[in-house]
Amino acid sequence: MDLIQIKGGNFLEGEISISGSKNASLPMIIASLLTRDKVKIRNIPNLSDVSTLLKLIKSLGSEFELKNEDNSSYKLIVQTKEIKNNIASYDLVRKMRASFWVLAPLILRYGEAKVSLPGGCAIGIRPINFYLSILEKMGASIKIKDGYVQASIKSNLQPINYKLDFPSVGVTHFFLMISSLVEGESIIRNAAMEPEIISLASMLNKMGAKITGHGTDKIVINGCSKLKGADTKIPPDRIEAGTFALAVATTGGKLKLKSINIKEIEILKDVLKNTDVEIKSSENFIEIIKKNRVIHPTDIETKPYPGFPTDLQAQFMALMAYSNGKSKIKETIFENRFMHVQELVRLGAKIKLNGDTAIVNGVKKLYGAPLMATDLRASASLIIGALRAEGTSTIRRVYHLDRGFDKIEQKLSSCGAIIERKRDNNE
Ligand code: UD1
Repeated sequence: MDLIQIKGGNFLEGEISISGSKNASLPMIIASLLTRDKVKIRNIPNLSDVSTLLKLIKSLGSEFELKNEDNSSYKLIVQTKEIKNNIASYDLVRKMRASFWVLAPLILRYGEAKVSLPGGCAIGIRPINFYLSILEKMGASIKIKDGYVQASIKSNLQPINYKLDFPSVGVTHFFLMISSLVEGESIIRNAAMEPEIISLASMLNKMGAKITGHGTDKIVINGCSKLKGADTKIPPDRIEAGTFALAVATTGGKLKLKSINIKEIEILKDVLKNTDVEIKSSENFIEIIKKNRVIHPTDIETKPYPGFPTDLQAQFMALMAYSNGKSKIKETIFENRFMHVQELVRLGAKIKLNGDTAIVNGVKKLYGAPLMATDLRASASLIIGALRAEGTSTIRRVYHLDRGFDKIEQKLSSCGAIIERKRDNNE
């Protein structure tokens, strides 16, 4: 296994091109299974979550080619003429929860499916009750047996009008996919409004579905009996952009992030301004300038889009660890997303947990330490903390990081960070 070693203290200076979005790639690749035709998806990032998903869809019957578009991204040409296997195994689903969404194309095209329950994970229990209630309301029979969801349909699924108790991103993706191939009008209310929902809906519309309202909390889907192939592109990764923005705010320096969509990180831009970071931006770039290293404490509360993303909470905490005061960080999306706290404390941060809120008392200095990544976004917060800490830090279990950050060490070292990937001989 690999570890990442960082010698902290350098300013970050330069330009970084943001890769395609992980969270848009996954549902869009799964949506390609809804048709027999060829689907082309450009700007695919180089991530282990994408490789895991490709392995899964191959096991289900997809054939694909990954072509290098330029040095930084891939074009996926995928075709699933036939679903040859209707089982998504525990081994693949446990590695990445989004794999569970293959339940939609499997049941639609095969009539029955067996998909492993994803299980809990480092950030919370993460139930699947909304998925199951949608399937049941549409007329599928569901059984949970041997750790698998077993779903089958005797006749065509029925369109439904469904109100989510919470605007779940995954469930909204799932609902869009499934109702695109259910003839008639389906409606989802209190839907997630994340940009990745808009990307998936636009792709499904290109494939022949008639979806309106995506980007609002009420989405109407007029499904059809057959979807066709499409040529589509993955949008930029707003979480990767936010992570680099928070990294330079923490280290100081001047970083220009290119190939972004500024509207999607509007909330972070406002929050960063409150911390006393200077920002210049246009529609598709943002420049973060931090000349001094004084950060104003700022409170945040994670919320569904357009609120502050839970996927940037850990990285924001690394910044607040250095602020010149006290800040409160409230996590409202996942019940256990504070695994990074103990690791940041190992760097010298002063953080106390009180239920769903972390109280961060900023310190003047952090010091390098051996650290352990616990989940994908938490690993990014450790990188940010280590970049600013005095001395050397080692971060173990970086496979978490590789799930969702495309060439993060290369991108950071090209901007002056001293960061190196090494073999971990102690694992
Ligand atoms: C997606 C993102 C993840 C992000 C999260 C919230 C992908 C691949 N992952 O995850 O990076 O952190 O959105 O923005 O896009 N819930 C239920 N019952 C269900 C489903 C969800 O109670 O059936 C709850 C969850 O436990 C959680 C909340 O809904 O508390 C939000 O989760 P959800 O939006 O579904 O997250 P994911 O789609 O898994």
